[in-house]
Amino acid sequence: MRNAESLYDLRVDGDRLWRRLEALGEVGAILGPNGERGCARLALTDADREGRDLVVGWMRDLGLAITIDAVGNVVATRAGTDATAAPVMVGSHIDTVRTGGRFDGNLGVLGGLEVMETLEQHGISTRHPISVAFFTDEEGARFQPDMLGSLVYVGGMALEDALDVRAADDNARLGDELARIGYAGPTPCPTATAPHAYVELHIEQGPVLEDEDITIGAVTGVQGISWTELTIVGQSAHAGTTPMRLRHDAGYVAAAITAGVRAIAREMGGTQVATVGRCELLPNLVNVIAAKATMTVDLRNTDEARLEKAEASFHALCDQLAKDEGVTIERRSLARFEPVEFDEGMIKLVQRTAQRLGHSTKMMPSGAGHDAQMLARVCPTSMIFVPSVNGLSHNIAEFTKPADISAGANVLLQVVLAKAMEGAV
Ligand code: GLV
Ligand code: MN
Ligand code: MN
Repeated sequence: MRNAESLYDLRVDGDRLWRRLEALGEVGAILGPNGERGCARLALTDADREGRDLVVGWMRDLGLAITIDAVGNVVATRAGTDATAAPVMVGSHIDTVRTGGRFDGNLGVLGGLEVMETLEQHGISTRHPISVAFFTDEEGARFQPDMLGSLVYVGGMALEDALDVRAADDNARLGDELARIGYAGPTPCPTATAPHAYVELHIEQGPVLEDEDITIGAVTGVQGISWTELTIVGQSAHAGTTPMRLRHDAGYVAAAITAGVRAIAREMGGTQVATVGRCELLPNLVNVIAAKATMTVDLRNTDEARLEKAEASFHALCDQLAKDEGVTIERRSLARFEPVEFDEGMIKLVQRTAQRLGHSTKMMPSGAGHDAQMLARVCPTSMIFVPSVNGLSHNIAEFTKPADISAGANVLLQVVLAKAMEGAV
């Protein structure tokens, strides 16, 4: 076995990782008007199947032991020297939003594979096994809630409930789509074995690291998420003949809620954010008052009490608008996750490792949701962030520089090695 010092000299092959990112990015590729190269690989679509097949092929090439569980999570494991030791797990997701990029999620999975290949190439054994996972439907763009696969993996949602979730776009049943693409696997879910530790490499998806010229974020936790779908029912009527005071305008109420939740977030300040990302009007015609609006509200805060305050203000706003305009508003919760704090030892390990590799670092919370927040329920967890150019993500222009990708992957490698060698004699 190599000593700790020589293990510290080990480095990933950044070019190989980049090539895999490019290859996976070709699956479901979408091109922007200015040559941007994005990705549309919604969960459990044909494109998702193609992406899964590609990654599973790479896992097989590396000789990893692959399991596919009942909700479609794929876990590939490299054995350790101690058969009784729990695996150190790395991973993320390979599904994307409809107008996504090539790095969100993919980096954590392919960075994990790169760690495996580096260890293999140098003939390095670890005491703990090492697993690389990709979890089903992290994005929640097609099936809600988001982080669904990792949530079921840790026992936070019953498998049967997850399989019965319906798609927001075509009402397809998750379990049926899973079977259709060939990823309803035989391995039981939730998992019977909690990992020894979990670490996820991810792009920041925001502007902070770039703005402060920092290479590595040591992620302290993930903010709370509250997703609600609203169905507003008014009455369609003639746009020319109906006086303003006699309208029951679902379109107006949707717009007032959009402006209202933004005002709530602005007034609350701090980390509070509010977004209306989807809004559909019926019948959606120029001269007809909208009879119905369906919309979503996404509220997030790092502090649970403040998130609850934002939700209370949002609900009060809906009640007031329903009364004033004479419409009904039905609220349906799509996702609700409390803020998560990661394990202090893991956060410090990420920070120390990055500093030792010569990188500037920053401790920071995550604004986006991640599979890591689910794994944090069952094992010590943290994340490694690398900068997003112009802070963009969930956007086809999403980009992270190759040098930052390599930097993050080398931090991942060293963090994994540190955890996987624990207890070795
Ligand atoms: C997942 O990507 C989310 O934070 O919405
Ligand atoms: Mn992601
Ligand atoms: Mn995402």
